[in-house]
Amino acid sequence: MTTAKKLFIKTYGCQMNVYDSERMAETLGTEGYVATDHAEDADMVLLNTCHIREKAAEKVYSDLGRLKPLKQAKPGMKIAVAGCVAQAEGEEILRRAPVVDLVVGPQSYHRLPAMLAAVGQGARAIDTEFPAEDKFDHLPDRRMLRGPTAFLTVQEGCDKFCAFCVVPYTRGAEVSRAPGRLLAEARDLVARGVREITLLGQNVNAYRAEGRGLARLVRDLARIDGLERIRYTTSHPNDMEDDLIAAHGDEAKLMPFLHLPVQSGSDRILKAMNRRHSVDHYLRLVGRIRAARPDILLSSDFIVGFPGETDADFEATLALIRAVGFGAAFSFRYSPRPGTPAAERPAVDAATSDARLQVLQALITGQQRAAQQAMVGREVRVLYEKAGRMPGQMVGKSDHLHAVHVTDPTGTPGELVRVRIVESAANSLAGLRLSA
Ligand code: SAH
Ligand code: SF4
Ligand code: F3S
Repeated sequence: MTTAKKLFIKTYGCQMNVYDSERMAETLGTEGYVATDHAEDADMVLLNTCHIREKAAEKVYSDLGRLKPLKQAKPGMKIAVAGCVAQAEGEEILRRAPVVDLVVGPQSYHRLPAMLAAVGQGARAIDTEFPAEDKFDHLPDRRMLRGPTAFLTVQEGCDKFCAFCVVPYTRGAEVSRAPGRLLAEARDLVARGVREITLLGQNVNAYRAEGRGLARLVRDLARIDGLERIRYTTSHPNDMEDDLIAAHGDEAKLMPFLHLPVQSGSDRILKAMNRRHSVDHYLRLVGRIRAARPDILLSSDFIVGFPGETDADFEATLALIRAVGFGAAFSFRYSPRPGTPAAERPAVDAATSDARLQVLQALITGQQRAAQQAMVGREVRVLYEKAGRMPGQMVGKSDHLHAVHVTDPTGTPGELVRVRIVESAANSLAGLRLSA
């Protein structure tokens, strides 16, 4: 019988890391670890890291610096680095940060128990292989659910090699999980109270297994009783197959929100980014998606200040944003990443990039507010996730992925209710529950 040891996990980066952190916690659970919210109480601190931009990657080292005194105060404490920085930098982390005991890449974390055994013997352990075996075959069942929504990784890796991006190097080639396994995992999640599943992949709509694409998987999942909502992210404009577009029109459980990153509105820059699609392709795609599901809200990612971006290129991006009208978007100043082709090219100066980012973000914020404002007075469905900060209030998401605060003194998490929207605030809506 082992006594409970405490595990603190900090997750950086995308939803796929959130999913991986849950799976790592479950694996370490079999080793007797229970979660804690306080690093100073922990027997093991695990940083699940992101390499996408320089700031995210450097943050890991400053966090490791802050962990040093904690470990000195508690010498048995183990410190582990997982995720994309672990994959990209490997041994370099052990060299730069003596405080680290263990480094594990995103495809090897099912080996954590064996690695911990080695660390227990006083060694430092590293595993950044892309192993032949499938980690999902070696992980325990899902057990750490945090309410009625869950992530489900269906696809990993990327073969696209956009000129700015580290993901193909940190996550490897595109691999899709077998539909039978995914349906079983989804049924298990629903049996544990999950009502909404977000399918995840670095290129989720490149999903292909046993001759079937993402649309077929969505349609199979939609037949699970008790599963009310399906979403997926992140999709690539070149992998939007016809049936997936059709599913947005005829599959009631597929929610009317789509994150479809375009990155730039200039064909010249798209080409330099190796995106392999044009502005026109994207706009026509948006037209077809909206023809299938007229009320769908779209979101995107944008990079400003990509090498070679001129004022005219940037204006073209603003024009695309005006032409589409987004419900939300993420935008980033270009960050040169080691090993990527774009990192070798002359940079746009920081002041110009910053100024462009501000202009773009103001435009997007305006569109986001307008999309929210359009909901006021309408009836929407909200899946309650938890109690709000105010007494008598629940919070959840609408079908269109708006956060909604609902006045409802008797609501419970997991209820899917009808709500009248009465107000739009900066980043959320407020509403009243309608009687059932
Ligand atoms: N697979 C997804 C996104 C992965 S990364 C896709 O293809 O859309 C998430 C976002 O980070 C990207 O869409 C891009 O906008 C941004 N990003 C990636 N590399 C970046 C870099 N080097 N500098 C700035 N932003 C970057
Ligand atoms: Fe990165 Fe491009 Fe792949 Fe997305 S599609 S993960 S941006 S290389
Ligand atoms: Fe970051 Fe890796 Fe996700 S680099 S965005 S954690 S795939």
